[in-house]
Amino acid sequence: MSIAALRPVRRPARLRGELHLPSDKSVAHRALIANALAGGPATVRVHEPGDDVRSTVHCLRELGVEVAERNARGSVELELRGSPRQPARELDCGNSGTTMRLLAGALAGLPIEATLHGDASLRRRPMERVAKPLREMGAGVETTNGLPPLRITGRERLLALEHRLPVASAQLVAAISLAALAAEGETQVVAPAAVRDHTERLLAAMGASIHRQGTTTVVRGPATLHPLSLKVPGDSSGATPWLVAAAIHPDADLRLADVGLNPSRLAAVEVLREMGAEIRVRPSRKGGPEPMGEIRVRSGQRLRSVTLGGDRVAALIDELPALAVAMAAADGTSEVHDAGELRVKESDRIAAVTAGLAAIGANVEALPDGWRVSRGSPHDAAITTYGDHRIAMAFAIAALAGVAGEVAVDDPECASVSYPTFWDDVERVSGGQA
Ligand code: S3P
Repeated sequence: MSIAALRPVRRPARLRGELHLPSDKSVAHRALIANALAGGPATVRVHEPGDDVRSTVHCLRELGVEVAERNARGSVELELRGSPRQPARELDCGNSGTTMRLLAGALAGLPIEATLHGDASLRRRPMERVAKPLREMGAGVETTNGLPPLRITGRERLLALEHRLPVASAQLVAAISLAALAAEGETQVVAPAAVRDHTERLLAAMGASIHRQGTTTVVRGPATLHPLSLKVPGDSSGATPWLVAAAIHPDADLRLADVGLNPSRLAAVEVLREMGAEIRVRPSRKGGPEPMGEIRVRSGQRLRSVTLGGDRVAALIDELPALAVAMAAADGTSEVHDAGELRVKESDRIAAVTAGLAAIGANVEALPDGWRVSRGSPHDAAITTYGDHRIAMAFAIAALAGVAGEVAVDDPECASVSYPTFWDDVERVSGGQA
């Protein structure tokens, strides 16, 4: 852990720099699991992989997939060979709900018995939502009173399924789509709102018949995947805290290089622009399944309040903690509704965000499915993260931007779940003054 993580964060005179964010975990999990299903060989290049991506690599190795690792200037090349086989041990998914749910879908279509478990946070997260459709497809899936551990008994052939998701969850679309590769016929997954489409892009690029129609994902099975080597773009959700910091700070200019620019992941850019932020997005590369490029954000006018709810929320689910900080800096009262799903993320993010906002001096009220917040008077604060990476990053940013006084987070290390170089980047953009 860097020195910056060990001391409280405060607002520096200016925020400047170019950051290379860690690779997007959503894309990395999918690329690793799908290439394992394809049997490799394929090389997935990941910049500064976080703990969650490491959890997926660990589980694939336990499943007998060879994953060789070569360092390449801050990035690692993960070279996969071989298909998943019967594991000798239980699979530890760590803190990663995406690892658990996606692997459940992938293993449902293989003649394998496996138990998936995780850390204390993951053991509180709902799994019936993934177990039920996979059971209907013919796999054996047992939860523990709806929670992990998950026991999967896969089958070589599954049944196609038409399924309406109870929540707009990209993890569920991915899990059912991966299982649908082993099903005979057309599977349709209907989401109540649009979610990130990395699964559709990747599996189509690997030769599967899969597409998105409105909010429905259609997969035709059985399908054999071709291995696909790729470079995973920088994490657009990891970009959000920097967009918020620079949009609030009076003297900021940050450039984020090689960030994923998948439109299904840029809703926070839209929201911040609506609030008045100056953000420029410049695509640099096309070719792989995911677009990428540069995002530049500079200090601008004072932010205006915003109200978020309805279908939009699903596309903002990981960004809401950082956006809450922007709301606490804005003129007027902002509200978030329809975000009850935040209660079952790595922590209860409604409780964690509203407690954190109150601690830094904002006027905040928790709602059952969101919050209401307006600017208060910035305080020094000790923030309880509940081990949740997004909470740690959001409140460090609150201090960097001056929405809080000095902020100390109780568990700075938890940022490494998605952003292991976060504290180094705090130091870098602050010129060592954070
Ligand atoms: C993810 C989807 C999101 C997000 C999670 C990663 C994914 O969850 O919160 O961090 O990779 O599919 P849901 O869309 O399942 O709520």
